[in-house]
Amino acid sequence: QPPLPNHRQDRAAEESAAERPSLPFSGTLPSFTNEPDTDPSLYANQAWARAAIARSAAPGWLDAQSVPPTLAASDVDDLVGRARTAAVAWSARPAAERAAILYRAADLLSRRRGHLVSIAAAEAGKSVAQSDPEISEAIDFARYYAHRALELDRIDGARFTPDRVIVVTPPWNFPLAIPAGGTFAALAVGAAVIHKPAAPTPRCSMAVLEALWDAGVPREACLGVFPDEGDAGRALISHPDVDRVILTGASDTAALFASWRTDLRINAETSGKNAMIVTPSADRDLAIADLVHSAFGHAGQKCSAASLGILVGSTYSSTRFRRQLIDAASSMVVGWPTDLAATVGPLTEPPSEKLRRALTTLEPGESWLLKPRMLDDSGRLWSPGIKDGVAPGSFFHLTECFGPVLGLMRADDLTEALALQNATDFGLTAGLHSLDTAEVRTWLAEVNAGNVYVNRGITGAIVRRQSFGGWKRSSVGLGSKAGGPNYLMLLGSWADAPASE
Ligand code: SER
Repeated sequence: QPPLPNHRQDRAAEESAAERPSLPFSGTLPSFTNEPDTDPSLYANQAWARAAIARSAAPGWLDAQSVPPTLAASDVDDLVGRARTAAVAWSARPAAERAAILYRAADLLSRRRGHLVSIAAAEAGKSVAQSDPEISEAIDFARYYAHRALELDRIDGARFTPDRVIVVTPPWNFPLAIPAGGTFAALAVGAAVIHKPAAPTPRCSMAVLEALWDAGVPREACLGVFPDEGDAGRALISHPDVDRVILTGASDTAALFASWRTDLRINAETSGKNAMIVTPSADRDLAIADLVHSAFGHAGQKCSAASLGILVGSTYSSTRFRRQLIDAASSMVVGWPTDLAATVGPLTEPPSEKLRRALTTLEPGESWLLKPRMLDDSGRLWSPGIKDGVAPGSFFHLTECFGPVLGLMRADDLTEALALQNATDFGLTAGLHSLDTAEVRTWLAEVNAGNVYVNRGITGAIVRRQSFGGWKRSSVGLGSKAGGPNYLMLLGSWADAPASE
């Protein structure tokens, strides 16, 4: 693969440039390149980030951003019917025309990066350092799925019938990239989307939909709705004319949806309880940097986050490793997005019961290596916590807590470490830090997770390079991975190939 681009662009200058013309689409497939993140070392970009954050903190700014209409159960029939009608016209357009519109929407997201940074900060508490790569990911999903839709159309267009109506239900922790991923994928194959934002982040979702409408996607082909507190959610998910649901969220939500409708077709990427193993052969400095970054980035609110560090043999007993780990975690700056130096931001909402237990309680055998502290009255700002001595089979070993707590476990050797890593019901991400190639080979053969990383952090999968998806309870009906070459093929049905003569 070509190297990642490393642009030293000035974001503000880019955003004030005239609207780019729509892509000339002359039948040549544009090659796919990942969108570069903003270079924070440029003074101009620091000023750009400060302006975006200041805007988002202005009184009333967030309230002025659009939210989707509320949906009552009695509206569901009409809504699904409208989406179905829109899908007929949208899917009848040539694939190249749809792709050109999606590329244009990707360009709009790129040109609205500052606006998206503002919304993610105000609505989800995301720091610029966290939202900026997420926006790149949203743009990558947009372009990659448009690109793949064109390839698929050329190779297999005649055999593929896309779904008509797909409900997309994203999570709040990646409130831009994941809403974009599901929505662009569905539109790329020719389906209509009913987009139900996560409750805490509707305006982030709407910013993605607005880019699509402004680029030329018919409104009826991509509707944003907020089911009311009553039965609207259930009525929507179980409507017989909804062909598929793309869900990213808790595994319990996937189970609930499935209980509402037995023949539901669902592509769900769900929970994780992810561990990084560090063996004595590891580059210690690198392992510690990757561990704290994966554990505490966005305050640990990533399904991909490292929640456990499994330290093998002398790594576990090393005083130096512990001291360095404590230093690394406690030197992270905790703060609201207005503090541009903050590397650990706030929780999007005050801690759930599970997270509160993880942050405030020690289970048998555990001790605090670094005790988390609640830093203000909102209940949302916590300093990183590290608990030592997490016991096999305990609450913290097996439960996803989704916050800034890392638990350490001890293993005598790689075999025991792998058993601990594989013991949970989930299998989303997993990491190994080791410079021993025999260990790496063994680990790769034995680890049970969808995304496996060696000598790298375990968050921040990059579209096309590290397509993202889980095993075990981390996925339902997925069979393929978001941001990977096969994802679109799931969003429809296939006719048999003609039998050869
Ligand atoms: N794709 C994200 C990551 O890799 C998680 O959803 O961190």
